[in-house]
Amino acid sequence: MEKIVLKNVVKIFGDSPKKALHMLQEGDSIAEISKKTGNVVGVADVSFSVNEGEIVVVMGLSGSGKSTLVRCINRLFEPTSGGIYVDGQDVCALGTKELREFRRRKFGMVFQHFALFPHRKVVDNVEFGLEIQGVDKDQRREKAEKSLEMVGLKGWGEKYPGELSGGMQQRVGLARALALDPDILLMDEAFSALDPLIRRDMQDELINLQHTMQKTIVFISHDLDEALKLGDRLVILKDGAVEQIGTSEEILTKPATEYVRKFVEEVDITKVLTAETIMKKSEDVAYLGSDGPQTALRKMKKNAISSLFVVNRDHTLAGILFVDDVRRLADQGETDLEKAMRKDIKTVSADTPAHELFPIMQDISYPVAVVNEQNKLKGVIVKGLLFSAIAERGGE
Ligand SMILES: Nc1ncnc2c1ncn2[C@@H]1O[C@H](COP(=O)(O)OP(=O)(O)O)[C@@H](O)[C@H]1O
Ligand SMILES: [Mg+2]
Repeated sequence: MEKIVLKNVVKIFGDSPKKALHMLQEGDSIAEISKKTGNVVGVADVSFSVNEGEIVVVMGLSGSGKSTLVRCINRLFEPTSGGIYVDGQDVCALGTKELREFRRRKFGMVFQHFALFPHRKVVDNVEFGLEIQGVDKDQRREKAEKSLEMVGLKGWGEKYPGELSGGMQQRVGLARALALDPDILLMDEAFSALDPLIRRDMQDELINLQHTMQKTIVFISHDLDEALKLGDRLVILKDGAVEQIGTSEEILTKPATEYVRKFVEEVDITKVLTAETIMKKSEDVAYLGSDGPQTALRKMKKNAISSLFVVNRDHTLAGILFVDDVRRLADQGETDLEKAMRKDIKTVSADTPAHELFPIMQDISYPVAVVNEQNKLKGVIVKGLLFSAIAERGGE
């Protein structure tokens, strides 16, 4: 379901936006518009939507219009033209009071600079939004404690912000937004001021939180690695306009413009490619209980492979067979495949990144099985597949 819809949003700063807008519609460049009218085009005709529960990362260099765009979504900035719809509601049609109420109910914002009150305890900072809403003291405290726990700061409520590290202060900022339990989080460079290691922690934390929270998140970042890691989809902005919208994989493998291609050139492809995109889906398997050694041997011969995964009737993974073991079994006149099967095998999930597959594949002499949460076999990765998938996409 579409949660946020942006239609041809334009934001122009200056005292003759009408004239500038007209020039923009005529196809004049924003540099030209600025030179001729003195107006600054912050956002130049942006359209996209964000689905419920999705993380969309708006990404672009400094000055590309990211902050302006995100502020247009909840009308902290008044768009010059275009439409913004949240849950089907035309945000631009709301009156001042309605807008304030709408913002409070729907949106949480987290900025790069945490803007905590230094003289209020951490828990009081987290309670701030609830206090404004007139929520009573006990309920406020309960919600604040809960959201502090969510961001990993249980027990820190009685401290003052100055006693916390930068990373922890940013968590307080996040907790403050979460305490209001908004449907939508607008996060503008929320992690950009943090040290790289802490930043990665926060990214992991957000991904974990999102599994349970299922918020709709618009995350602003100028860092491509961060965007690729967090975004279900990315919106790449240049000069206030969209260069490309797509999943990480689409952006990396099918850059829409020369600009995007240059942008993604430096990316380490092994961090983005996942087991799911590399694996072979239709590998022959042996069925436990119905297949015997001869069938297993035939399947291996047919596929020119020296090992074969074994699944139960419901397609859950049971183990693996090696050709020598199966031959021995057959020679002994045995029919029960399970006697030759090895059960202790390494598996990965569909979202395992390629760079984590290398060390795993180094350690084992058989292919890696990709399984889902129910341990059902979804695909198989052999070394050759891993290397060719990476080479194909321009990695080393
Ligand atoms: N309040 C403002 N008044 C005038 N120009 C602004 C204002 N805010 C942003 N801009 C201009 O709009 C453009 C986009 O800025 P911004 O949205 O802050 O970019 P980003 O967040 O991608 O770095 C820039 O040229 C910036 O100078
Ligand atoms: Mg910005």
